[in-house]
Order: sequence, then C-alpha cells, then structure tokens
Amino acid sequence: MSAPSEKIHELNDRLRGLSPELVLAEVLKVFGNKIGFSSSLGAEDQVITAMLAGIDKSVKIFTLDTGRMFPETYELLHRTVSRYGLDIQIFFPAAGQVEDMVRSKGINLFYESIENRKLCCNIRKIEPLRRALSGLDAWITGLRSDQSVTRHEMKMVEWDETHGIIKINPLIDWKKEDVWNFIREMNIPYNSLHDKGFPSIGCQPCTRAIEDGEDIRAGRWWWENPDSKECGLHIS
Ligand code: ADX
Ligand code: SF4
Repeated sequence: MSAPSEKIHELNDRLRGLSPELVLAEVLKVFGNKIGFSSSLGAEDQVITAMLAGIDKSVKIFTLDTGRMFPETYELLHRTVSRYGLDIQIFFPAAGQVEDMVRSKGINLFYESIENRKLCCNIRKIEPLRRALSGLDAWITGLRSDQSVTRHEMKMVEWDETHGIIKINPLIDWKKEDVWNFIREMNIPYNSLHDKGFPSIGCQPCTRAIEDGEDIRAGRWWWENPDSKECGLHIS
C-alpha cells in the first residue's frame, strides 16, 4: 500500500500543539476500531495506557512477549491490567521458529553478531508485531524523539513503510521529565527496574543498567553501535 500522504499531512496539522490526551482522543475518533496501541510497558507506554484507560477501555492494547522479558515486566503487566481493568492482548513468537533458531544458533545467539541479534528480534518481536497489526489502519507507540539519534526525525503522525500502516507517536515531543512528572502526578504503575538504573527496558539479556551520565539507551544492546540499535519495530 502506498503512503496516504495527504491524510498524514492533514493529521499532523490538526494534532500539532494538542496535549497527548487530546491527540489520543482524536485519533481514536478518526480510526475507530482500526487502531491499536503497542505497549512494551515502558514508562512512556504506561503514560499512554493510563490516558487510553480514561478515554476508552475497549481500545486494542497489545504487548509483544518475546519470552525473554524481565520478571519485573511480567509483574507490571499483571499490576497494570488489575489497576485499569484493561484487556492487554499478549502476542507470543511462533514456537517452531524459536525452536529452530535456538537449536541451530544457541539460546544466546544475539551476542555473537548483529545478524544473529536481528534474527532473534525478527522472530521474537517483528513477526508477532506483524500479526498484531494485521487488519489495523494505524498503530500508536510511546516513541519520543530525544530517545535516540535514530528517532530525531520522527513526527507525531508518520507512514510506517515496513508495515504499510499509519504510526502515531503522541509523546514524540515530550521530554523524559514530562513523562516522570505525569507518572508521579497520576500515580501510574511503572516498572521497578526504572528505579534501579534502567531508563529503557527491553529483553533481559539485551538490557543492562546505565551509569550516571550515560545515554538513556546505552543499556540496550550495549555491545552495538548507537546507529544500529533498533530492533526493527521502528525502522522506516
Ligand atoms: S525498541 O525498538 O528499542 O525495543 P523501545 O523499547 O524504545 O523500542 O520502545 C518504543 C516503542 O515501541 C514503545 O513505546 C512501544 O510502542 C513499542 N514497543 C517496544 N517494545 C515492545 C514490546 N515488547 N511490545 C509492544 N510494543 C513494544
Ligand atoms: Fe532477542 Fe535480544 Fe531482540 Fe529480545 S532484544 S528479541 S532477546 S535479540
């Protein structure tokens, strides 16, 4: 499918300057039941979940469980569902693909090469994301532009070439402080690892705590260069 450039342009104009809550309310109206929110249960995603719960609890919210998440992330998933009474759909990787991969390349293949790391991310995240997005016209993410060099150019509404679908990033202009102020003010449940030096949390074997002064994504795939550090969920 080719990019609906006019619609994207028009939406960006219409949503510019609105608060994330208003952006969410507006895109839910525009896309109806053809929109979904992809939550990693990170701090930004918890803000969006709380906002969506206040707008429409029936909105599709899903998370990709790679099978290698931190125990703290599962605990947060449970706490979030209980707190907001939401049905967060969990997508798992295809068992046969994971079995073939780890049999031929080992359980911790990702440390050996970028190629292996991308294969693992493809099987454990990208393929389940493709299934989660099928039938939708738009997806919502918790991306912020100052999270990484790979995200500086991102817009509130953009065309996701890989998935052939519109992508909406309501927090794109928020700073880290905005996220944490909102979490504290609204008493939003968050991952306990955030208090232990983990600003950005992905899979357990590919995420470490950072030191004071380090970049917020320094602990993700820390053995790779900053410009290769996207798992493929957000490559345009
Ligand atoms: S990643 O590409 O490096 O893993 P990051 O952790 O910064 O992404 O999260 C950015 C956004 O991608 C999140 O706000 C969320 O919308 C989506 N996302 C990342 N990981 C997952 C996941 N496991 N399940 C669902 N959505 C995810
Ligand atoms: Fe695999 Fe690591 Fe990617 Fe998770 S982040 S899917 S464990 S390579």
